[in-house]
Amino acid sequence: MITILNDNFSQLNTFLHEKSFSKIFILVDENTHEYCLPILLGNMETDLGFEILEIEAGEEMKNIQTANQLWEILTEMQADRKALVINLGGGVITDMGGFVASTYKRGIQFINIPTTLLSMCDASIGGKTGIDLMHYKNMVGTFAFPEQIFIFPKFLETLPFKELRSGFAEMLKHGLIADKNHWDQLIQIRKLEAETVIPHIQTSMNIKQDVVDKDFHEQNIRKTLNFGHTIGHAVESLCLQQGNPILHGEAVAMGMIAEAHLAYLENLISEADASVIIENVQRYYPYLDINDFKDEDITALLLNDKKNTDRKINFSLLSGIGSCTYDHQCSQENILESLSFYRKLNNA
Ligand SMILES: NC(=O)c1ccc[n+]([C@@H]2O[C@H](COP(=O)([O-])OP(=O)(O)OC[C@H]3O[C@@H](n4cnc5c(N)ncnc54)[C@H](O)[C@@H]3O)[C@@H](O)[C@H]2O)c1
Ligand SMILES: [Zn+2]
Repeated sequence: MITILNDNFSQLNTFLHEKSFSKIFILVDENTHEYCLPILLGNMETDLGFEILEIEAGEEMKNIQTANQLWEILTEMQADRKALVINLGGGVITDMGGFVASTYKRGIQFINIPTTLLSMCDASIGGKTGIDLMHYKNMVGTFAFPEQIFIFPKFLETLPFKELRSGFAEMLKHGLIADKNHWDQLIQIRKLEAETVIPHIQTSMNIKQDVVDKDFHEQNIRKTLNFGHTIGHAVESLCLQQGNPILHGEAVAMGMIAEAHLAYLENLISEADASVIIENVQRYYPYLDINDFKDEDITALLLNDKKNTDRKINFSLLSGIGSCTYDHQCSQENILESLSFYRKLNNA
Protein backbone atom coordinates (compact mmCIF):
# COMPACT_ATOMS: atom_id res chain seq x y z
CA MET A 1 0.00 0.00 0.00
CA ILE A 2 2.75 2.50 0.94
CA THR A 3 5.84 2.11 -1.22
CA ILE A 4 9.10 4.02 -0.92
CA LEU A 5 10.21 4.62 -4.50
CA ASN A 6 13.62 3.69 -5.84
CA ASP A 7 15.56 6.39 -7.65
CA ASN A 8 14.22 5.14 -10.99
CA PHE A 9 10.61 4.85 -9.81
CA SER A 10 10.61 1.18 -10.82
CA GLN A 11 7.76 0.24 -8.48
CA LEU A 12 5.55 2.94 -9.98
CA ASN A 13 6.39 1.75 -13.49
CA THR A 14 5.56 -1.84 -12.57
CA PHE A 15 2.26 -0.68 -11.08
CA LEU A 16 1.34 1.26 -14.24
CA HIS A 17 2.36 -1.67 -16.38
CA GLU A 18 0.39 -4.29 -14.47
CA LYS A 19 -2.87 -2.38 -14.29
CA SER A 20 -4.86 -1.66 -17.41
CA PHE A 21 -5.53 2.05 -17.19
CA SER A 22 -6.90 3.93 -20.19
CA LYS A 23 -5.18 7.25 -19.56
CA ILE A 24 -3.33 9.13 -16.82
CA PHE A 25 -4.21 12.54 -15.36
CA ILE A 26 -1.50 14.08 -13.20
CA LEU A 27 -2.73 16.73 -10.76
CA VAL A 28 -0.12 19.27 -9.64
CA ASP A 29 0.01 22.77 -8.22
CA GLU A 30 2.35 25.42 -9.59
CA ASN A 31 5.17 24.44 -7.22
CA THR A 32 4.96 20.70 -7.64
CA HIS A 33 4.72 21.36 -11.39
CA GLU A 34 8.05 23.15 -11.19
CA TYR A 35 9.93 21.00 -8.68
CA CYS A 36 8.42 17.52 -8.70
CA LEU A 37 6.80 16.90 -12.07
CA PRO A 38 10.09 16.91 -14.02
CA ILE A 39 11.41 14.19 -11.71
CA LEU A 40 8.24 12.13 -12.07
CA LEU A 41 8.13 12.48 -15.86
CA GLY A 42 11.85 11.80 -16.14
CA ASN A 43 11.35 8.43 -14.49
CA MET A 44 7.85 7.38 -15.50
CA GLU A 45 7.83 4.73 -18.19
CA THR A 46 4.47 3.99 -19.71
CA ASP A 47 2.80 3.72 -23.10
CA LEU A 48 -0.29 5.39 -21.76
CA GLY A 49 -1.20 8.91 -22.75
CA PHE A 50 -1.18 11.48 -19.97
CA GLU A 51 -2.42 14.99 -19.28
CA ILE A 52 -1.22 17.49 -16.69
CA LEU A 53 -3.87 19.27 -14.62
CA GLU A 54 -2.45 22.26 -12.78
CA ILE A 55 -4.07 24.36 -10.08
CA GLU A 56 -2.67 27.34 -8.18
CA ALA A 57 -0.92 26.50 -4.91
CA GLY A 58 -2.65 27.08 -1.59
CA GLU A 59 -5.45 26.05 0.72
CA GLU A 60 -7.75 28.67 -0.88
CA MET A 61 -7.91 26.42 -3.93
CA LYS A 62 -9.33 23.49 -1.98
CA ASN A 63 -12.94 24.32 -2.79
CA ILE A 64 -15.91 23.30 -4.89
CA GLN A 65 -15.04 25.70 -7.74
CA THR A 66 -11.71 23.97 -8.29
CA ALA A 67 -13.34 20.56 -8.00
CA ASN A 68 -15.91 21.60 -10.56
CA GLN A 69 -13.23 22.78 -12.98
CA LEU A 70 -11.39 19.50 -12.61
CA TRP A 71 -14.55 17.44 -13.17
CA GLU A 72 -15.22 19.50 -16.30
CA ILE A 73 -11.70 19.03 -17.63
CA LEU A 74 -11.90 15.28 -17.01
CA THR A 75 -15.19 15.21 -18.89
CA GLU A 76 -13.89 17.29 -21.80
CA MET A 77 -10.83 15.07 -22.03
CA GLN A 78 -13.11 12.04 -22.01
CA ALA A 79 -11.64 10.42 -18.95
CA ASP A 80 -13.39 7.07 -18.64
CA ARG A 81 -13.89 4.73 -15.69
CA LYS A 82 -10.43 3.22 -16.27
CA ALA A 83 -8.57 6.52 -16.13
CA LEU A 84 -6.02 7.02 -13.34
CA VAL A 85 -5.49 10.25 -11.41
CA ILE A 86 -2.00 10.76 -9.99
CA ASN A 87 -1.98 13.30 -7.16
CA LEU A 88 1.49 14.84 -7.09
CA GLY A 89 1.67 17.38 -4.31
CA GLY A 90 1.03 18.28 -0.71
CA GLY A 91 -2.12 17.70 1.31
CA VAL A 92 -4.12 20.18 -0.75
CA ILE A 93 -3.47 18.17 -3.91
CA THR A 94 -4.00 14.74 -2.31
CA ASP A 95 -7.23 15.88 -0.57
CA MET A 96 -8.56 17.66 -3.65
CA GLY A 97 -7.45 15.09 -6.22
CA GLY A 98 -8.73 12.21 -4.10
CA PHE A 99 -12.08 13.97 -3.75
CA VAL A 100 -12.40 14.68 -7.47
CA ALA A 101 -11.34 11.16 -8.47
CA SER A 102 -13.57 9.45 -5.91
CA THR A 103 -16.65 11.30 -7.15
CA TYR A 104 -16.05 11.58 -10.91
CA LYS A 105 -18.23 8.95 -12.62
CA ARG A 106 -18.92 7.60 -9.10
CA GLY A 107 -15.23 7.01 -8.58
CA ILE A 108 -12.15 6.40 -10.67
CA GLN A 109 -8.82 5.13 -9.39
CA PHE A 110 -6.15 7.42 -8.00
CA ILE A 111 -2.70 7.19 -6.47
CA ASN A 112 -0.99 9.64 -4.12
CA ILE A 113 2.59 10.78 -4.58
CA PRO A 114 2.92 13.17 -1.64
CA THR A 115 5.61 15.85 -1.92
CA THR A 116 5.44 17.63 1.46
CA LEU A 117 6.47 16.15 4.79
CA LEU A 118 2.94 16.69 6.07
CA SER A 119 1.36 14.84 3.19
CA MET A 120 3.91 12.00 3.33
CA CYS A 121 3.45 11.34 7.05
CA ASP A 122 -0.16 12.33 7.41
CA ALA A 123 -2.51 13.67 4.71
CA SER A 124 -1.92 11.07 2.00
CA ILE A 125 -2.58 8.20 4.43
CA GLY A 126 -5.91 7.25 5.93
CA GLY A 127 -8.45 7.48 3.14
CA LYS A 128 -9.93 10.88 3.89
CA THR A 129 -10.42 13.24 0.95
CA GLY A 130 -12.14 16.58 0.91
CA ILE A 131 -12.59 20.24 0.22
CA ASP A 132 -13.34 23.28 2.37
CA LEU A 133 -16.76 24.90 2.45
CA MET A 134 -17.14 28.59 3.35
CA HIS A 135 -14.53 28.96 6.11
CA TYR A 136 -14.98 25.42 7.40
CA LYS A 137 -12.10 23.09 6.64
CA ASN A 138 -12.75 19.68 5.09
CA MET A 139 -16.53 20.05 5.37
CA VAL A 140 -17.31 18.07 2.24
CA GLY A 141 -15.49 14.92 1.30
CA THR A 142 -15.37 11.19 0.91
CA PHE A 143 -13.69 8.21 2.47
CA ALA A 144 -11.73 6.82 -0.45
CA PHE A 145 -8.49 4.91 -0.63
CA PRO A 146 -5.77 5.54 -3.17
CA GLU A 147 -4.73 2.40 -5.08
CA GLN A 148 -1.21 3.05 -3.83
CA ILE A 149 0.82 5.67 -2.01
CA PHE A 150 4.28 6.16 -3.48
CA ILE A 151 6.81 8.09 -1.41
CA PHE A 152 9.88 9.68 -2.94
CA PRO A 153 11.57 11.34 0.06
CA LYS A 154 13.97 13.37 -2.08
CA PHE A 155 11.03 15.58 -3.10
CA LEU A 156 11.57 17.18 0.31
CA GLU A 157 14.84 18.71 -0.86
CA THR A 158 12.98 21.61 -2.50
CA LEU A 159 10.36 22.04 0.21
CA PRO A 160 10.61 25.40 2.03
CA PHE A 161 11.92 25.10 5.60
CA LYS A 162 8.69 26.33 7.21
CA GLU A 163 6.69 23.65 5.39
CA LEU A 164 9.17 20.99 6.50
CA ARG A 165 8.93 22.19 10.09
CA SER A 166 5.15 22.16 9.86
CA GLY A 167 5.08 18.51 8.80
CA PHE A 168 7.60 17.65 11.51
CA ALA A 169 4.97 18.54 14.15
CA GLU A 170 2.84 15.60 13.00
CA MET A 171 5.87 13.31 13.24
CA LEU A 172 6.54 14.45 16.82
CA LYS A 173 2.85 13.83 17.52
CA HIS A 174 3.08 10.29 16.16
CA GLY A 175 5.97 9.56 18.50
CA LEU A 176 4.23 11.10 21.49
CA ILE A 177 0.94 9.24 21.03
CA ALA A 178 2.25 5.84 20.01
CA ASP A 179 5.99 5.25 19.99
CA LYS A 180 8.43 6.62 22.55
CA ASN A 181 11.36 5.30 20.57
CA HIS A 182 10.29 7.33 17.51
CA TRP A 183 10.00 10.44 19.70
CA ASP A 184 13.43 9.81 21.23
CA GLN A 185 14.96 9.51 17.77
CA LEU A 186 13.26 12.64 16.46
CA ILE A 187 14.39 14.85 19.32
CA GLN A 188 17.98 13.90 18.54
CA ILE A 189 17.65 15.98 15.37
CA ARG A 190 19.45 19.27 15.88
CA LYS A 191 18.87 20.88 12.49
CA LEU A 192 15.62 20.28 10.66
CA GLU A 193 16.31 19.61 7.00
CA ALA A 194 15.37 17.02 4.41
CA GLU A 195 18.47 14.95 5.09
CA THR A 196 17.94 14.67 8.86
CA VAL A 197 14.22 14.05 8.65
CA ILE A 198 14.10 11.53 5.78
CA PRO A 199 15.44 8.55 7.81
CA HIS A 200 12.42 8.83 10.14
CA ILE A 201 9.60 9.21 7.64
CA GLN A 202 8.79 5.55 7.29
CA THR A 203 8.29 4.98 11.01
CA SER A 204 6.02 7.98 11.19
CA MET A 205 3.94 6.85 8.20
CA ASN A 206 3.62 3.39 9.68
CA ILE A 207 2.27 4.80 12.94
CA LYS A 208 -0.46 6.69 11.10
CA GLN A 209 -1.26 3.69 8.90
CA ASP A 210 -1.42 1.35 11.91
CA VAL A 211 -3.78 3.61 13.82
CA VAL A 212 -6.04 3.99 10.78
CA ASP A 213 -6.02 0.23 10.13
CA LYS A 214 -7.15 -0.42 13.69
CA ASP A 215 -9.95 2.13 13.65
CA PHE A 216 -10.84 3.42 10.20
CA HIS A 217 -14.09 5.10 11.27
CA GLU A 218 -12.54 7.00 14.18
CA GLN A 219 -14.61 5.28 16.85
CA ASN A 220 -11.69 4.89 19.23
CA ILE A 221 -7.91 4.84 18.75
CA ARG A 222 -7.87 7.03 15.60
CA LYS A 223 -8.98 9.85 17.87
CA THR A 224 -5.49 9.85 19.41
CA LEU A 225 -4.25 11.47 16.17
CA ASN A 226 -6.07 14.57 17.41
CA PHE A 227 -3.57 15.13 20.24
CA GLY A 228 -2.49 18.78 20.10
CA HIS A 229 -5.25 19.53 17.62
CA THR A 230 -8.07 20.64 19.95
CA ILE A 231 -6.32 23.76 21.22
CA GLY A 232 -4.15 23.86 18.07
CA HIS A 233 -7.14 24.08 15.73
CA ALA A 234 -8.79 26.80 17.81
CA VAL A 235 -5.64 28.93 17.64
CA GLU A 236 -5.18 28.15 13.93
CA SER A 237 -8.74 29.42 13.27
CA LEU A 238 -8.25 32.57 15.35
CA CYS A 239 -5.01 33.41 13.54
CA LEU A 240 -6.82 32.95 10.26
CA GLN A 241 -9.75 35.15 11.35
CA GLN A 242 -7.25 37.80 12.40
CA GLY A 243 -5.71 37.79 8.94
CA ASN A 244 -2.42 36.23 10.12
CA PRO A 245 -2.68 32.62 9.00
CA ILE A 246 -0.12 30.23 10.44
CA LEU A 247 0.88 26.82 9.16
CA HIS A 248 -1.03 23.84 10.51
CA GLY A 249 2.03 22.29 12.13
CA GLU A 250 2.87 25.55 13.91
CA ALA A 251 -0.60 25.48 15.47
CA VAL A 252 -0.25 21.80 16.35
CA ALA A 253 3.11 22.46 18.03
CA MET A 254 1.48 25.16 20.17
CA GLY A 255 -1.44 22.83 20.85
CA MET A 256 0.86 19.98 21.89
CA ILE A 257 2.59 22.24 24.40
CA ALA A 258 -0.66 23.48 25.96
CA GLU A 259 -2.20 20.01 25.93
CA ALA A 260 0.92 18.40 27.45
CA HIS A 261 0.55 20.78 30.38
CA LEU A 262 -3.18 20.04 30.45
CA ALA A 263 -2.46 16.30 30.66
CA TYR A 264 -0.26 17.04 33.67
CA LEU A 265 -3.00 19.14 35.28
CA GLU A 266 -5.44 16.29 34.69
CA ASN A 267 -3.02 13.90 36.43
CA LEU A 268 -2.42 11.86 33.29
CA ILE A 269 1.32 12.46 33.01
CA SER A 270 4.05 13.51 35.43
CA GLU A 271 5.34 17.05 35.60
CA ALA A 272 8.74 15.75 34.49
CA ASP A 273 7.29 14.16 31.33
CA ALA A 274 5.32 17.31 30.56
CA SER A 275 8.51 19.38 30.84
CA VAL A 276 10.48 17.08 28.55
CA ILE A 277 7.75 17.31 25.92
CA ILE A 278 7.32 21.06 26.20
CA GLU A 279 11.03 21.87 26.17
CA ASN A 280 11.66 19.72 23.13
CA VAL A 281 8.73 21.00 21.09
CA GLN A 282 9.84 24.55 21.95
CA ARG A 283 13.28 23.85 20.52
CA TYR A 284 11.85 23.55 17.01
CA TYR A 285 9.05 26.13 16.95
CA PRO A 286 9.07 29.86 17.58
CA TYR A 287 6.76 31.08 20.34
CA LEU A 288 3.28 31.78 19.06
CA ASP A 289 1.82 34.87 20.65
CA ILE A 290 -1.80 34.21 21.67
CA ASN A 291 -2.17 37.28 23.88
CA ASP A 292 -4.59 38.89 21.44
CA PHE A 293 -6.99 35.98 21.81
CA LYS A 294 -9.43 36.04 24.69
CA ASP A 295 -10.06 32.91 26.72
CA GLU A 296 -13.75 33.12 25.75
CA ASP A 297 -12.90 33.14 22.04
CA ILE A 298 -10.66 30.11 22.40
CA THR A 299 -13.16 28.16 24.51
CA ALA A 300 -15.99 29.05 22.12
CA LEU A 301 -14.01 27.39 19.34
CA LEU A 302 -13.11 24.43 21.56
CA LEU A 303 -16.82 23.90 22.16
CA ASN A 304 -17.38 23.90 18.41
CA ASP A 305 -14.82 21.17 17.73
CA LYS A 306 -15.99 18.36 15.42
CA LYS A 307 -14.86 15.71 17.95
CA ASN A 308 -17.24 16.87 20.68
CA THR A 309 -20.34 15.07 21.85
CA ASP A 310 -23.17 16.39 24.07
CA ARG A 311 -21.57 19.85 24.15
CA LYS A 312 -18.61 18.46 26.08
CA ILE A 313 -15.07 19.13 24.85
CA ASN A 314 -13.36 15.83 24.10
CA PHE A 315 -9.58 15.95 24.31
CA SER A 316 -7.06 13.38 23.18
CA LEU A 317 -4.44 13.67 25.89
CA LEU A 318 -1.16 11.89 26.48
CA SER A 319 -1.05 9.32 29.25
CA GLY A 320 2.73 9.01 28.90
CA ILE A 321 5.39 9.59 26.27
CA GLY A 322 4.21 7.10 23.66
CA SER A 323 0.63 6.59 24.82
CA CYS A 324 -2.55 8.59 24.51
CA THR A 325 -6.13 8.63 25.82
CA TYR A 326 -9.16 9.97 23.98
CA ASP A 327 -12.61 11.34 24.82
CA HIS A 328 -11.10 12.85 27.92
CA GLN A 329 -13.15 15.69 29.36
CA CYS A 330 -11.18 18.27 31.32
CA SER A 331 -12.27 20.76 33.92
CA GLN A 332 -12.81 24.26 32.59
CA GLU A 333 -10.36 25.49 35.20
CA ASN A 334 -7.59 23.26 33.88
CA ILE A 335 -8.24 24.25 30.27
CA LEU A 336 -7.89 27.93 31.17
CA GLU A 337 -4.84 27.15 33.30
CA SER A 338 -3.15 25.41 30.37
CA LEU A 339 -3.70 28.51 28.18
CA SER A 340 -2.37 30.75 30.89
CA PHE A 341 0.64 28.45 31.25
CA TYR A 342 1.31 28.78 27.51
CA ARG A 343 1.02 32.58 27.63
CA LYS A 344 3.61 32.71 30.40
CA LEU A 345 6.14 30.65 28.45
CA ASN A 346 6.90 33.77 26.45
CA ASN A 347 8.64 35.35 29.41
CA ALA A 348 10.17 32.20 30.80
N1 LIG B 1 -6.80 13.88 4.45
C1 LIG B 1 -6.18 13.93 5.59
O1 LIG B 1 -6.23 12.99 6.39
C2 LIG B 1 -5.40 15.15 5.96
C3 LIG B 1 -4.55 15.12 7.08
C4 LIG B 1 -3.78 16.25 7.35
C5 LIG B 1 -3.88 17.37 6.54
N2 LIG B 1 -4.72 17.36 5.46
C6 LIG B 1 -4.83 18.53 4.56
O2 LIG B 1 -3.55 18.78 3.98
C7 LIG B 1 -3.48 20.15 3.61
C8 LIG B 1 -2.13 20.69 4.01
O3 LIG B 1 -1.13 19.95 3.33
P1 LIG B 1 0.32 20.54 3.06
O4 LIG B 1 0.86 21.11 4.31
O5 LIG B 1 1.07 19.49 2.35
O6 LIG B 1 -0.02 21.82 2.16
P2 LIG B 1 0.10 22.15 0.59
O7 LIG B 1 -0.40 21.05 -0.25
O8 LIG B 1 -0.55 23.47 0.44
O9 LIG B 1 1.67 22.30 0.36
C9 LIG B 1 2.38 23.33 1.01
C10 LIG B 1 3.17 24.18 0.03
O10 LIG B 1 4.32 23.46 -0.42
C11 LIG B 1 4.40 23.48 -1.84
N3 LIG B 1 5.10 22.25 -2.22
C12 LIG B 1 4.61 21.00 -2.16
N4 LIG B 1 5.58 20.11 -2.40
C13 LIG B 1 6.71 20.82 -2.68
C14 LIG B 1 8.04 20.45 -2.97
N5 LIG B 1 8.43 19.17 -3.00
N6 LIG B 1 8.94 21.44 -3.19
C15 LIG B 1 8.56 22.75 -3.09
N7 LIG B 1 7.33 23.15 -2.77
C16 LIG B 1 6.41 22.19 -2.57
C17 LIG B 1 2.98 23.60 -2.28
O11 LIG B 1 2.88 24.11 -3.58
C18 LIG B 1 2.41 24.56 -1.23
O12 LIG B 1 2.74 25.87 -1.58
C19 LIG B 1 -4.64 20.84 4.31
O13 LIG B 1 -5.62 21.17 3.36
C20 LIG B 1 -5.17 19.80 5.28
O14 LIG B 1 -6.55 19.92 5.50
C21 LIG B 1 -5.46 16.27 5.17
ZN1 LIG C 1 -2.74 17.73 11.85
